[in-house]
Amino acid sequence: MFVGRQREMGELKACLEDAVSGRGRLVTLVGEPGIGKTRTAQELATYAGLRSAQVLWGRCYEEQGMPPYWPWVLAIRSYVRGHEPDQLHSEMGAGAADIAEVMSEVRERLPDLKPPPQLESPEQARFRLAQRHKWRPMPLEYV
Ligand SMILES: Nc1ncnc2c1ncn2[C@@H]1O[C@H](COP(=O)(O)OP(=O)(O)OP(=O)(O)O)[C@@H](O)[C@H]1O
Ligand SMILES: [Mg+2]
Repeated sequence: MFVGRQREMGELKACLEDAVSGRGRLVTLVGEPGIGKTRTAQELATYAGLRSAQVLWGRCYEEQGMPPYWPWVLAIRSYVRGHEPDQLHSEMGAGAADIAEVMSEVRERLPDLKPPPQLESPEQARFRLAQRHKWRPMPLEYV
């Protein structure tokens, strides 16, 4: 049973509708341990599935030695493995080269992509990627 959280679910569903119509969104659920962030994400995933959206999961915990972009890598990996190169090309479009920077498996499946930029620090690479895609997380504060 999922109780309450109408405001949060309303905002998340609106963001999902944006995403489905081609305006990607990034939302972060922020709050105390145990307050219901993961549960809300699962609820949204169920709703998105009913809405025929493709749902991908990535996870990570606060640990030393985690590779960069790890949750994204996990999410994209399951997607990349489950699709043919033609489909990856058409669905990722111009973003494929950027995604390949974060995940080498994309480059293995799509060898024609332009080569990754050289001579950059990880901080510079992260900045460039975030700038290009205007990643502005919308925090949804849990209380
Ligand atoms: N709206 C809700 N209705 C019913 N049960 C809920 C709801 N929100 C959370 N719970 C339950 O409360 C428990 C803790 O929730 P959850 O794991 O989602 O918290 P969390 O914010 O992700 O915690 P953490 O920060 O530790 O990851 C779970 O058993 C979950 O099923
Ligand atoms: Mg959690």
